[in-house]
Amino acid sequence: MKINRFKIWAVAASFAITAPIFAQGAPNAEEGKKLFDANNCGSCHALDKKLVGPALRGVHDRHSNEWLIQWVRNNKKFRESGDADAIKLYNDYGGAAMNIYENLTPAQVLDIVEYIKTAPAPAAPKTDTAVTSSDAPVTDPTTKYVLLILLAVFSIVLIVLARVRNTLKRIAAEANPDEYPELANKGSFMQRNLPAFMSKMNPTVLGLIVTTLIAIPLGIYGFNFANTEVGVQKGYAPTQPIAFSHKLHAGELEIDCKYCHSTVEVSKSASIPALNTCMNCHKGVQATEKYNGEISPEIKKIYAALDYNPEELPGKQFGDNPAPVRWVRIHNLPDHAYFNHSQHVVVGKLQCQSCHGPVQKMEVIQQWSTLQMGWCIDCHRNSGIDVANNGYYAALHDKAQKDLKQNQNNSKYFGPDGKVKITPAMNGGLECAKCHY
Ligand code: HEC
Ligand code: HEC
Ligand code: HEC
Ligand code: HEC
Ligand code: HEC
Ligand code: HEC
Repeated sequence: MKINRFKIWAVAASFAITAPIFAQGAPNAEEGKKLFDANNCGSCHALDKKLVGPALRGVHDRHSNEWLIQWVRNNKKFRESGDADAIKLYNDYGGAAMNIYENLTPAQVLDIVEYIKTAPAPAAPKTDTAVTSSDAPVTDPTTKYVLLILLAVFSIVLIVLARVRNTLKRIAAEANPDEYPELANKGSFMQRNLPAFMSKMNPTVLGLIVTTLIAIPLGIYGFNFANTEVGVQKGYAPTQPIAFSHKLHAGELEIDCKYCHSTVEVSKSASIPALNTCMNCHKGVQATEKYNGEISPEIKKIYAALDYNPEELPGKQFGDNPAPVRWVRIHNLPDHAYFNHSQHVVVGKLQCQSCHGPVQKMEVIQQWSTLQMGWCIDCHRNSGIDVANNGYYAALHDKAQKDLKQNQNNSKYFGPDGKVKITPAMNGGLECAKCHY
């Protein structure tokens, strides 16, 4: 971390010296890369792989510079202006919406385009779909447990062998008391230490019984563990590069989740806000009272990331060396599973909290649910959908009402209150292809 930061500052320093040369000149790829990272474009785009949005390599062949500037800065306005390409692109992506980036100047957009144009093709493409390009290793606890179980089994085998050896010694001692004075006539370790009936048992048999008694619960534990815990990141709450608190922002300040996770209603992905969203408040809010008049060190990190200097005159405050904040991605379904936020939040009318838990009380955000297939399926089997007032379900609701009239409480649509009950499962929510690519 230290080295990275040092590097960033080293680059920053060298750049501060050379920046004026570029200021008016040709688009700058290095600059573009920084802007790409700082604005979290990578949460939806990779160069060579389709994520939420298209793979961006070759985008300059598909569109003119003028088009790209308008698209990136405000794709919504651009579409509304009637540009056919823009509308088609949007429709091709099933209405997944891209953020608005009016904070970027046209020249900065061209810097990004230059970066995309000149980026070397990857030798081994990085398949990290991170919202946040996390580098944090995810520790897999399985290995540890397998080792523990092996250790237990080995210890037991050793104990059994030791018993066998002692018994042999004892037999030898009984036959030949002079050679083993300390063992003769004293009885075995087990005869001395175990109740009478057990001491008569063959030590090997006893060893096997003990082994089984220990191995069965361990085995069951291991099996359950492998079934329920492996790869499950429930409770995962990594330390983030900026101590951002949902408890404060979503709870006490009551900022709407959608203010920051702005694509959640229109897109598959909820997205992590760009730091410019934070600046809507934190240009002014600096928590200075807490730090003897100094700007909060955590808020300084936002400024550093945007290369923002509050001391400068307006218009000169934003430097041109933003450095990305690498939020650690928490939720991450495997590639073969498909999950869509807008489907659940808009059509299904679910609250964020039904899946993410009481986020507004979390100082550090964590993964609340297992995100396992069984978790999805359980909810699809059990949760009722408010179909009566939902246009999406009009046809199904009619059908269900008819069925309910005919079959009364034998109808599969019969709910506990005698009214129509429809679950996502009845609407195809258990079909493999709905959730798997
Ligand atoms: C929340 C996800 C999201 C983010 C963040 C995002 N995009 Fe997009 N982008 C999309 C989607 C989705 C499309 C496809 C069109 C649509 O559905 O609106 C797209 C389309 C594009 C296109 C047109 C690509 C083509 O092949 O025609 C460009 C260029 C682009 N984005 C650049 C950017 C840049 C630059 C950034 C960062 C400043 C960015 N995007 C951030 C989702 C995103
Ligand atoms: C002021 C902006 C803001 C608001 C309001 C906000 N969030 Fe966030 N959220 C963030 C940021 C920034 C991150 C990434 C940093 C982190 O993980 O703490 C994040 C991360 C998350 C994550 C984890 C993302 C991952 O990596 O998997 C979830 C889930 C989430 N927010 C849900 C919510 C919900 C639900 C609400 C409303 C109750 C909400 N957020 C309100 C800014 C916000
Ligand atoms: C709607 C306004 C608003 C937005 C948007 C907002 N914040 Fe805040 N934030 C506040 C307020 C108000 C405080 C409390 C300041 C205080 O304690 O004096 C705060 C406090 C903080 C603190 C704690 C500072 C400290 O040292 O006590 C951090 C860190 C922070 N915000 C980060 C962020 C980040 C990162 C984002 C963007 C993802 C963001 N905020 C978006 C209003 C906002
Ligand atoms: C039906 C359950 C469900 C609901 C409701 C839900 N989420 Fe999610 N959320 C998920 C799952 C599952 C993921 C992991 C998606 C992935 O990895 O592709 C996720 C991921 C996220 C992320 C990480 C970034 C991303 O898009 O992958 C954020 C941020 C987030 N959710 C915010 C929200 C907010 C804000 C709401 C409410 C407006 C909400 N979620 C409602 C299940 C849900
Ligand atoms: C808290 C309850 C809940 C959880 C958890 C949940 N869903 Fe859903 N899901 C719903 C509801 C309600 C709908 C109905 C909305 C609709 O039909 O579009 C739905 C609909 C869907 C649909 C569309 C079905 C259709 O026929 O149109 C898909 C696909 C889907 N969910 C995938 C998932 C996946 C994948 C997960 C787990 C990662 C998941 N859901 C977790 C409640 C949930
Ligand atoms: C409601 C959504 C949903 C439906 C329907 C669904 N799956 Fe899944 N499935 C998931 C999710 C989410 C995962 C990833 C869970 C995880 O990583 O633990 C998954 C994982 C899997 C896996 C990998 C197992 C693993 O542990 O990684 C297989 C195999 C699978 N599903 C097969 C199926 C088959 C076959 C069907 C149809 C009978 C089906 N799924 C229906 C959501 C669904």
